[in-house]
Amino acid sequence: SVPSLASPDDFLQCLREKIPSELVYTQSSSSFAGVLVSSIRSPRFFTNTTVRPLCVVTPTDASHVQAAVLCGRTQGVRLRVRSGGHDYEGLSYRSARPEVFGVVDLANLRAVSVNQSETTAWVDSGATIGELYYTIAKDNSQLAFPAGLCPTIGVGGHFSGGAIGMMMRKYGLAVDNVLDAKLVNANGDLLDRAGMGEDLFWAIRGGGGGSFGIVLSWKVQLVQVPPTVTMFNIAKTIDQGAADIVTRWQDVGPSLPNDLTMTSADCQSMTWLQSVAFISFWNRDTPVEALLSRTTSLSTYTKNKSDYVQSAISKGVWKDIFSWFTMNGAGLIILEPHGGFIGSVPTDATPYPHRSMLYNVQYIVFWQGDGGAAANTWLGNFYDFMGQYASKNPRQAYVNYRDLDIGQNVVVDDVTTFDGGKVWGEQYFASNFQRLASVKAAVDPTNYFRNEQSIPPLAQGR
Ligand code: FDA
Repeated sequence: SVPSLASPDDFLQCLREKIPSELVYTQSSSSFAGVLVSSIRSPRFFTNTTVRPLCVVTPTDASHVQAAVLCGRTQGVRLRVRSGGHDYEGLSYRSARPEVFGVVDLANLRAVSVNQSETTAWVDSGATIGELYYTIAKDNSQLAFPAGLCPTIGVGGHFSGGAIGMMMRKYGLAVDNVLDAKLVNANGDLLDRAGMGEDLFWAIRGGGGGSFGIVLSWKVQLVQVPPTVTMFNIAKTIDQGAADIVTRWQDVGPSLPNDLTMTSADCQSMTWLQSVAFISFWNRDTPVEALLSRTTSLSTYTKNKSDYVQSAISKGVWKDIFSWFTMNGAGLIILEPHGGFIGSVPTDATPYPHRSMLYNVQYIVFWQGDGGAAANTWLGNFYDFMGQYASKNPRQAYVNYRDLDIGQNVVVDDVTTFDGGKVWGEQYFASNFQRLASVKAAVDPTNYFRNEQSIPPLAQGR
């Protein structure tokens, strides 16, 4: 079991013995801050008061990950794992509470290996989805994979939370297309699907990152796309009928043929890979190679929240909703239609429980170093207002749009409690939360892998 007192010096000594020293960056290293910040998206989590890791380990081999887990277990130092660093609350590299921990950053483990005849691929967690899409499509423009939009998202965290995107109505979530995985568990064992068993394999496909172990790579089923797909981008103001369009879209969007995610005229034809670049950069001329850039910017502060809508909202209410966007501090919302294939998958097939929803809502506010008071006040008030129109009992939220405001783990006797976890856990996972907690109890009973919203182990007898 994990000793309750951490031994940081012994932990670092253990790492030095087992992992090449150039892959271990301690706080005293001149490169530490640069490595730590390398995939941080939000300046909120890179300040003088941020609780930073003791070290960042950048493995180049699975054995380094296993060694880091074993050193952490024996010396009582927890690990957080980072793939693409896009967690909205920064949980892959900072702790919201005072804590001694190390970071395993998988950016060096990012191979993508496509098997054209099988139409499958093995993708390492440290790859970005831009690298995945590019590698799949560069040799065959009719192969693709259904996952998220932003090309710098890391595969590891993204798949761990389910991964929604433009093709979910046709092919489902990324995790609906995962065939196998390799994971280092809390004992430092490297396991594939057969080795980990079906319960753990179920849990890692959407139960959220950072709870069950470190997933090193994923075998995915690639999907077919036509030689060209059609994209559009249309702006409409309130005066041009935006409230009518959104009202109607709520019925039409989720019930369109599965090949469509939206309706419209004003369309442009392009390859699927070009469409991925287009939706990321909103510019037809951006070369697809731009999808390979891992560079992120620290210039903008953001805060995100999410909802799911089960019954269409009336036009009158949409008019009220639109009026919120004229207020001080206003941000934006993104609506993504469900239905189609994603809606046809049983709720308990993977931990993602939101299958029967019409659409999800993502709320985003932005600010520039002024503390963000107006933006955050607007977001809080708007989210409260939307509660009456969102899903209820529980009000559902998407784990990949991580939001610590909906609840954080309660730690008792050095273990996170099931009842504390339920507060946020049933919003992310609904009736799948309890099964996730029982898998956690089976595979990591001492709760080695944990963060502010990791799955708690279900106590025996519940
Ligand atoms: P990061 O490395 O920060 O990890 C996130 C969480 O997973 C952390 O708790 C971490 O410890 C854990 N984790 C990371 N790697 C792991 C591994 N190998 N094994 C186990 N646990 C691991 N989502 C979506 O579904 N569709 C979308 O279109 C978008 N779009 C989008 C755009 C932008 C700009 C951002 C910032 C985010 C999104 N997202 C999204 C959300 C995204 O899916 C979510 O933040 C993912 O968790 C990010 O995965 P990373 O590996 O980049 O994050």
